[in-house]
Amino acid sequence: MTKDQTKNLQQLRVVIVGHVDHGKSTLIGRLLYDTNSLPEGKYEELQEICKRRGTAALEWSFVLDAFQAERDQAITIDTTQIWFSTDQRDYVIIDAPGHREFIKNMVSGAAAADAAILVVDATEGVREQTRRHAYLLHLLGLRQVAVVINKMDLVDYSTETFAEVSKQVDGYLKSIGLSASFMIPISARQGDMIADRGENMDWYKGKSLTQVLDAFEYEMPPLSRALRFPVQDVYRFGEERILVGRVETGILRTGDTMLFSPTNEEAKITAIKVFPDDPEKVEARAGEVIGITLDERIFVERGHIGSHTQNPPMLSNVFRANLFWLSPEPLKVGATYKIRYGTSEANVTVQSIDRVIDTEDLAQDDHAGEVGKNAVAEVTLRSRDLLPIDPYTDNQKMGRMVIYDGYDIVGGGAINMDGYADQRRNAPKAENIYKVEHLMSADARAQNKGHTGGIFWFTGLSGAGKSTLAMAVEKALFEKGYHTYVLDGDNVRHGLNADLGFSPEDRAENIRRIGEVAALMADAGLIVVTAFISPYRADRDRARAAAPNDFHEIFVSADLETCESRDPKGLYKKARAGQIAEFTGIDSPYEAPQNPEMVVDTQNNDIDVCVKQVLRYIEGQVAFAGENENASKKEKALAV
Ligand code: ADX
Repeated sequence: MTKDQTKNLQQLRVVIVGHVDHGKSTLIGRLLYDTNSLPEGKYEELQEICKRRGTAALEWSFVLDAFQAERDQAITIDTTQIWFSTDQRDYVIIDAPGHREFIKNMVSGAAAADAAILVVDATEGVREQTRRHAYLLHLLGLRQVAVVINKMDLVDYSTETFAEVSKQVDGYLKSIGLSASFMIPISARQGDMIADRGENMDWYKGKSLTQVLDAFEYEMPPLSRALRFPVQDVYRFGEERILVGRVETGILRTGDTMLFSPTNEEAKITAIKVFPDDPEKVEARAGEVIGITLDERIFVERGHIGSHTQNPPMLSNVFRANLFWLSPEPLKVGATYKIRYGTSEANVTVQSIDRVIDTEDLAQDDHAGEVGKNAVAEVTLRSRDLLPIDPYTDNQKMGRMVIYDGYDIVGGGAINMDGYADQRRNAPKAENIYKVEHLMSADARAQNKGHTGGIFWFTGLSGAGKSTLAMAVEKALFEKGYHTYVLDGDNVRHGLNADLGFSPEDRAENIRRIGEVAALMADAGLIVVTAFISPYRADRDRARAAAPNDFHEIFVSADLETCESRDPKGLYKKARAGQIAEFTGIDSPYEAPQNPEMVVDTQNNDIDVCVKQVLRYIEGQVAFAGENENASKKEKALAV
């Protein structure tokens, strides 16, 4: 397609960020000039300004000043956007950070950028605002980021300097989970590697800035996303039930099997209903408001989300949000709010405030107790029930939410699942399986061993002392004649769980298997002590559900600072240096138990004291009472 054909069809939305004086405005001026995008008369105006201000060379950043003057007089209709075009297509530069309204719109999803340019000065490298702005890009879920290393003319177009600064920028971006699609050496002032390659950097074989921009893609349009049909209402006409809603993303067709979340009910679409009636209608696409009928009377209500069985939303009772807070009443940990996303509503409680970002200077605070008006924050929210969730980066339509306190809108933001696993459980794979009963009762086994079985589940940060404590407790129990065994994270990961890493999904599977193994061992009559970080409440709850009567959650408590200072395996140091990703407490969450059966404080007590405490607790729990009655039970057991 030629430019003329695509013109005005769709513009790629670019946001330009970077440290002050690293050359944003100069770059914008150059970009406009070099792509012949300066509006009529602007170039002359620029020459005029330069003359007036007494600068010999053309100062490209004045181009922006010229735009700014118009904005101030409010002559242009759109006051925040600047356009330019290459041979390939049109672009719109949306305003840079520093403007609260801009950040609010971006975070709430009202204005989404397709791509970003991060400007870094070759003579200065990464500076404070480079970090802050890059962090904002990460927060907004931007995936197409071009880094331009600017002012190459000031470093004699040195390839070494370029390599050095690129490496530094890349290191920082990786540490916040952002990766640069391209690194380009440029001189905005001289016009090198913007639209023209210039003659000063023949050593650079990559794309020029405009070539890079042309290679970026529009954010995926709703049609090519997975199907989402949030149910708005259910109409009943006699026997017929029609589910009404808007297809937010994807396409649905008559005959498709639909899966509804969170109930996991399935049924086939028998007809698509529209007004006026159209019997030919067999397909509905993103954006269409329709009704559907199903071949089975399954339970579906407003707020449930229809999808294909292949690509459903995640299910979770915990998720994270990047939000913009609007209320004069600060957001606090423990507070409950109503959220609305798609057609769903849910009550959520603030589990933690992970980071607060000041929208004036983008400064980050990781220890803020609350989120004040006009701040951006990363928070973790928890609901009672499983909610169908699409992260914002997967689905911008579904991953956006509005937060209410009563009837007042108090915030808005983007949902993400960073650090959390999908809790959707697939139906069991095997069929035709039947449980077989053991011929010994639990009492008989207890009689035989002199104590009951039990699971003593240690949870806590790496370095909290779980393994040390577990091994010491095992030895002490053994010496007293108990039948006991420790399941330890590092050990089990050498064998049974050697196929698992540390992603949220792998940790969930790690704990699922251990929960099941521990349940079997406890059923066999053993005292099982487990030493796993087991950072997620949902996973620990599932381990408890595998043996509800035998399960005791023991929180091995020491704060991050303490564990980090102990660092027995040197892993915290590596994690801080970016050599281990998804390390618990650093860039992967730890959810402390809310109502553990026991807390052992290894931060303020010696290990010996802790061992004694745990020992006393375990002995109290596994004591086997009722000799006489049990004797007869044992006889019975032996007789079988
Ligand atoms: S869990 O989160 O799935 O419960 P588990 O207890 O099995 O973790 O394993 C934790 C141990 O693995 C830690 O004590 C540490 O020695 C090691 N380890 C290696 N990488 C990581 C990581 N990314 N996060 C936490 N622990 C890690």
